[in-house]
Parts: sequence; C-alpha cells; structure tokens
Amino acid sequence: MDNSHKYLLNFKGFNFERTLVDMQILEKLDDFEIRDDDVFVVTYPKSGTIWTQQILSLIYFEGHRNRTENWDTLDRVPFLEYNIRKVDIENRPSPRLFASHLPYYLAPKSLKNNKAKIIYVYRNPKDVLISFFHFSNLVVKLEASSTLENFMEKFLDGKVVGSLWFDHIRGWYEHKHDFNILFMMYEDMKKDLRSSILKIRSFLEKELSEEEVDAIVRQATFENMKFIPQANYNNILSNEIGKRNAEGAFLRKGAVGDWKHHMTVEQSERFDRIFQEEMKDFPLKFIWDLNEEENSNHSAK
Ligand code: PPS
Repeated sequence: MDNSHKYLLNFKGFNFERTLVDMQILEKLDDFEIRDDDVFVVTYPKSGTIWTQQILSLIYFEGHRNRTENWDTLDRVPFLEYNIRKVDIENRPSPRLFASHLPYYLAPKSLKNNKAKIIYVYRNPKDVLISFFHFSNLVVKLEASSTLENFMEKFLDGKVVGSLWFDHIRGWYEHKHDFNILFMMYEDMKKDLRSSILKIRSFLEKELSEEEVDAIVRQATFENMKFIPQANYNNILSNEIGKRNAEGAFLRKGAVGDWKHHMTVEQSERFDRIFQEEMKDFPLKFIWDLNEEENSNHSAK
C-alpha cells in the first residue's frame, strides 16, 4: 500500500492512524526497553481495549477502585504507539500498564522471552466489523464509509487501522510461545465478568480481597462504565480525537451478536466463507451469539 492515504499511515506493513500515531515511538519500538513488571493489553481495534484498560487500572490502583483519585483510564493505561497525551511512557514508575494495537512482529524486541505480561483480547470479527464501521463514521480521524458494504470491503482488504484482522490474531496466537501472554475472549467477559476478572488477576499474580473484586466487577460493567467519565473516553473523544456527531460514544452497545442487526444474509455468508478459509486449523473458538451454543471457527454463524 502506498503511503499517501489521508487517514492511514503504513509502517512496516501495518496501518496506523496517521495523525495520532507517535512516529518517534514507532521508530524506536524495536529498542523500547521492557521491564519485567510491565503489563500490556493488546487488541485488534474494537475488541475490548478500553474495557480491559479499565479492568487493569482497577486491579492495580486502589485509588481507582475506591474512587478517591480522578485519573482517566487513558493516563493509567496509555497506548504505546498512540501517545495522545504525550506522557513520558518510558520513565513511568513501575508497574507500567500499556495498551496497544501492534501486531506481534512490531512488538518491542525485549518483550520476547520476557516476564512482562500481555493480555490479548479478541472478539468475534463480525461484531468487530460492525463496531469499527460505526466508530469510523463517528470519529473525524478515521475514514467514514457510506455503507456497511463499503466498509466491509476495506476491512476484508485490511485497509483500516490495525490492518487485517485475520493476520493480527493469527500472528499473536502463532507466536504465543515467544511471549508471556494470556488470551481472553470478549464474549467470555460478557458471559461471566467476574470469572474473567479472576482469570486476569491470577495471570497478573495480584492479591485482591472479595470486596476488591466486587468493586472491580461493579465498575467494569458496560452499564456502569458508560457513565464513568474517567472510563468512557467521552471527553477524549470530544476534545482530543473529535467526533462527527454529538450522540456517538466509544461505549456504543457492548453487545454480542449485534452484527445480526446490520449484516445482510449475503454479507454474513460471504464473511463466513472468508473466515473459514482464513482461519482453518485455527484452534481458538469464537462466540457469535450468546443465545447459541459456542461455535467452532469452522461454523461461523
Ligand atoms: S478501540 O477504539 O479499539 O480502543 O475500541 P475498543 O475499546 O477495543 O472496543 C470498543 C468496543 O468495546 C465495547 N465495550 C464494552 N463492551 C462490554 N462491556 C464493557 N464494559 C465495554 N466497554 C467497552 C464498546 O461498546 C465497543 O463495542 P460496540 O460493539 O461498538 O459497542
């Protein structure tokens, strides 16, 4: 892809949002020094990033859990490559928490064979597609699409921020032995938030009382997050990123299976065919609708 796209910047084969990405960090990514106690949430866009940022922040900061401190989640868990608030990400005190959409092959070299922890959150790609479609039409920094069909074409061509969904998840999964990584599924988090938080807590080896876990669960539900200004990104969206209409929000529906309300049967079947081709032999399961049994990747619905 040439590099004249108005919204996308291609760096080493991967698409970033052109005006938000921090080029200085990108250029130095390889040598970015990782600490043993660093923690990353890594996602393809629209897969549960700000949800997991909120959970991490609640786990690590008592002042967030009991609401005595008033920090935006973005400042507690900043993006590595999108340093919107220009924080000195390198010299933050430990444990440093990060969010990132990077593909495995652009991850800092010293993240390999390191104790630093990565939580990779993935979501069924039809819901990712729908969430991304709405978000792209909302945010001035992203290219709007007049129709879902139009966006689906870009998504399936990887001409979006994050490039191709299939490559992102495959890359991280197939290189999982190089990293200290936990795979979490958005739909499992929806089905049982408490168990998902306990799983994350075990991976992070954090001690938390029952009451503390209760406080985290309570503040990480969609319904509550939507109204917590530090967590819902509303201010960031209005003031720093910019939106095209007044109503839209980062926390839109937070549902599993919303794609059924948007995709035609033909679009859904076309997506299934491509999914089955691209993801054959891929062992992770996907959930396409909470009312149905879990479907394996061979039976995308
Ligand atoms: S981004 O722009 O890549 O950082 O977006 P990301 O945070 O990865 O994904 C946004 C979608 O996650 C949903 N979300 C949640 N779902 C359930 N529960 C909670 N607590 C939650 N928080 C965020 C958010 O609503 C977006 O999905 P859609 O389908 O658009 O609602």
